Amino acid sequence: MCQAQGAHGNAPGELRNGRRQIKFQSRRLLARGQRMILADVADFRTAARRRLPHFLFEYIDGGSYQQVSLARNVADLAQLSLDQRVLRDVSAVDPSVTLFGQRFSLPLILAPVGLAGLNARRGEVQAARAALAAGTVLCLSTVSACSIEEVSAGSGHPPWFQLYMLRDRGFVAAMLQRAATANCPALVFTVDLPVPGARYRDRRSGLTGAPGLAGDLRRLGQALARPRWCWDVGLLGRPLTLGNVAGVLGSGTPLGDFLGWLADNFDPAASWADLEWVRQLWKGPLIVKGILHPDDARAAAAIGVDGIVVSNHGGRQLDGAFSAVAALPGIVDAVGGSVKILADGGVRSGLDILRYRALGADAVLAGRPWVWALAAAGERGVAQLLSMFDAELRVAMALTGQTRFGPSLHS
Ligand SMILES: Cc1cc2nc3c(=O)[nH]c(=O)nc-3n(C[C@H](O)[C@H](O)[C@H](O)COP(=O)(O)O)c2cc1C
Repeated sequence: MCQAQGAHGNAPGELRNGRRQIKFQSRRLLARGQRMILADVADFRTAARRRLPHFLFEYIDGGSYQQVSLARNVADLAQLSLDQRVLRDVSAVDPSVTLFGQRFSLPLILAPVGLAGLNARRGEVQAARAALAAGTVLCLSTVSACSIEEVSAGSGHPPWFQLYMLRDRGFVAAMLQRAATANCPALVFTVDLPVPGARYRDRRSGLTGAPGLAGDLRRLGQALARPRWCWDVGLLGRPLTLGNVAGVLGSGTPLGDFLGWLADNFDPAASWADLEWVRQLWKGPLIVKGILHPDDARAAAAIGVDGIVVSNHGGRQLDGAFSAVAALPGIVDAVGGSVKILADGGVRSGLDILRYRALGADAVLAGRPWVWALAAAGERGVAQLLSMFDAELRVAMALTGQTRFGPSLHS
């Protein structure tokens, strides 16, 4: 299902021609002296690229190895045709869903994205506010800039919380307790990162490929080339730490040390027994993220999870893996009806949400789009993105002749 790759391993679609497009758009805007109009997700990506230091944009945008799975996520969705239907009274379209006892105006959750909070001042707080205002929720990454408590206080509501299995089980148990104390409505337990996939774009950009003083200077140079980011995040957005992990290493620890601690702490020995352990500790809704095989979906369901996220981690782990779109039908056959099925990868419009729904997903997550929107315009940008997704989904439902999603989508 995947297309060929472009030069330097860049994937097609949103990734290919990116530089040329940005230069062209920048020149056009400068020529007209106008602010950029953000009409679709590609515009948010362009704006993020102009706003962020190079290493940060590359970190968000990139996938692992040759980015084959990243490209598949987008390409496999795009090739699903929608069924146009007419004269069916679509005057009252309602895309809301209920998941784990919560009502969502839009079946789209902001996916956990590590370091997302560095893309705008105290970024996860801004994103959580925009999500709540749109009737949905942010799933906060273990490795967020803002802590669970900061996001809860700043947005007025606890976020969903995403947890990795780390070697230090004491830390994992303490994080579960912290999320429970904060009343996080759901725990997303990510299982597709026993070891990190290599991301060559991060090496080229200098995020991981340039250690020591040379690396610091390289990243500093890239940051100084983006004065608005330096002001908004680098100065006013401090502390630049990992909020949930700061308790372990001390809040004065430099970001590089946090990331080193984390890389050393992903646990390649994690097994199904660990998921059982998490199930015993976490009493609320438990969602396992990173499932692509029907047998793994069955194993998770047998342990008593409440939901799964069909996902290849946005094409950042096993390059060459199925897209969630390709994996979804087999997983719906295997466990549909017994657990909620969420999916992510490649959602770039409301039409993509409908495509995932049509394949049997109860809801979707989107990662890069909300971070691009956050980088482009903070809370306002994420709000605009969600309103755009909502409008696109409603039109797509109307033009496919639906006022509600089909009966198989409700439990
Ligand atoms: C920059 C970046 C960081 C991510 N960090 C995490 C993370 O901390 N935890 C996690 O479970 N998934 C993480 N993901 C994966 C996302 O949750 C999600 O599965 C993926 O972004 C979906 O693909 P999309 O970006 O095409 O929407 C990350 C993705 C990106 C792009």
